[in-house]
Amino acid sequence: MAEKRIGIVMNGVTGRMGMNQHLIRSIAAIRADGGVRLKSGDVVMPDPILTGRNGDKLQALAKAHGIDRWSTDLDAALADPKDEVFFDAAATRLRAGLIRRAIAAGKNIYCEKPTAETLADAVDLARLAKAEGIMHGVVQDKLFLPGLRKLKMVIDSGFLGRILSVRGEFGYWVFEGDWQPAQRPAWNYKAAEGGGIILDMLCHWRYVLENTFGAVKSVSCLGATHIPERVDDDGTRYAADADDAAYATFELEGGIIAQINSSWCTRVRRDDLVTFHVDGTHGSAVAGLHKCWTQARVNTPKPVWNPDVPQTIDFFATWDEVPDNAVYPNGFRAQWEMFLRHLAGEVPEFPWNLEAGARGVQLAEAGIQSWRERRWVDLPDLVI
Ligand SMILES: NC(=O)c1ccc[n+]([C@@H]2O[C@H](COP(=O)([O-])OP(=O)(O)OC[C@H]3O[C@@H](n4cnc5c(N)ncnc54)[C@H](O)[C@@H]3O)[C@@H](O)[C@H]2O)c1
Repeated sequence: MAEKRIGIVMNGVTGRMGMNQHLIRSIAAIRADGGVRLKSGDVVMPDPILTGRNGDKLQALAKAHGIDRWSTDLDAALADPKDEVFFDAAATRLRAGLIRRAIAAGKNIYCEKPTAETLADAVDLARLAKAEGIMHGVVQDKLFLPGLRKLKMVIDSGFLGRILSVRGEFGYWVFEGDWQPAQRPAWNYKAAEGGGIILDMLCHWRYVLENTFGAVKSVSCLGATHIPERVDDDGTRYAADADDAAYATFELEGGIIAQINSSWCTRVRRDDLVTFHVDGTHGSAVAGLHKCWTQARVNTPKPVWNPDVPQTIDFFATWDEVPDNAVYPNGFRAQWEMFLRHLAGEVPEFPWNLEAGARGVQLAEAGIQSWRERRWVDLPDLVI
């Protein structure tokens, strides 16, 4: 049994996603478990160097998770041929420039979404990666959520029959920061800093819709900035001029209609922070982050509209839960493991790459265009 080391420059890991999901739940956890075992019996061991602006934070983070290497000199890290991968989870607006630098330095790329703020940049990155022949991947974590994986199994089983429609509800209340601290970074609410929920979330919805239901043909999106002023972590008031809610409808191939509300200004009264309700001719399903429930046509109750009588049916009780027949690891870790297998040559095709990332940005940009121009926007095929 041989151990194959894979050196990874991990950038932006002092941030929320980089630290919690990518460093702690994924790379540090994989290292603690002895690496990723390949079918050949060999083991892939990720060896990260943490990069960022603040040496003290990087040092503390590295120490806390048993990592030897950190640096505030990204250029030097990119120049080191022993580290073959560049990973980025820094703020969105920096991403395209960072990935360009890393591709120029010959690195393979793995990064958070969105891959860029504009479609032109996202396509350019995908083309550069193709031209350089590097390996590349983009985080598409929602596909690896247990709830979505169960939903996919339900769909593939044929249980739903012909799918008619999908209703997605995503979001929760993000506190304004004055009377309770906000639970998301302030840049998310500033247009000039790469904020905005349409750019943030529609790139997720592209791969979720595409991989679960069918290709997205067209989008109609209404954005809103419901809370125009917020307070940052230092107590400074700022103009929150980015969109903080998006009400979008998508036409999918096969005539499926999907509606997804994404909002940082909604209070949750549903099964989970995201839910997808799918209705088909033979059955329906509702998926949350972890769970999935189904209702077959033979189990469908028959309500009768009568506003004079309080509802007698407990609608939630008329659904069955899909059991946990498999073990579902953390979705970010599952995708990291697959990317490491891809780097090691065990997984030849890695479909969630910069091209898929560009399709996500394409949907976000089309959503913004639809909002601005108050019309449906069709999505042409992307040629990379
Ligand atoms: N996959 C998902 O579900 C998911 C969820 C949330 C965020 N994200 C994405 O992850 C990325 C980070 O989001 P976050 O919520 O962790 O943000 P964050 O603000 O918590 O972290 C941002 C990181 O970028 C670094 N950074 C910011 N400005 C910088 C600069 N000028 N130079 C160098 N470093 C800088 C910060 O130090 C920090 O490490 C975003 O692109 C976002 O779209 C993905």
